[in-house]
Amino acid sequence: MAIAPEAMIFTAMADCHGQMQSHLTALEALVKGMESSPLDAAGQKRIGAIEAFFSSTARQHHALEERYFFPPLLAGDEPDLIATVRGLQQDHGWIEENWIELSPQLSALASGNNWFDLAELAHGVEVFAELCRLHLELEDTLVYPATRARLVDLAEATL
Ligand SMILES: [Fe+2]
Ligand SMILES: [Fe+2]
Repeated sequence: MAIAPEAMIFTAMADCHGQMQSHLTALEALVKGMESSPLDAAGQKRIGAIEAFFSSTARQHHALEERYFFPPLLAGDEPDLIATVRGLQQDHGWIEENWIELSPQLSALASGNNWFDLAELAHGVEVFAELCRLHLELEDTLVYPATRARLVDLAEATL
């Protein structure tokens, strides 16, 4: 049986959330490990991959949500859901701001440089990871199910 295009989109979006979670966990572990020993070559490579992921794939993911997921919910008639989506839009701005500070530090690490303060980096990673995790949880539990329900309603209404 063919998979409906909308189901594939939700699978891809959920998969991206999974990738974000694993990159965040890996990033925290790498930074924690730097407290006791410098980053080795494998660690540098991993940090580089994490930096590339959040600079490209994650940004595209947020843009897709802003374009296709949020507007139908903001145009709906559920005040609590609208407030949640507005909060998530704000989160995207905060995530971007945090990332703009964090990204050059991670790029430096990936290139074998460490001109920054480790405690500051660890704090930046902690804030970024917490913000992302709260954001992903709200999307997984509220926004994606609500968007999916609207698509089902729309499909049934057009049958
Ligand atoms: Fe998002
Ligand atoms: Fe998301």
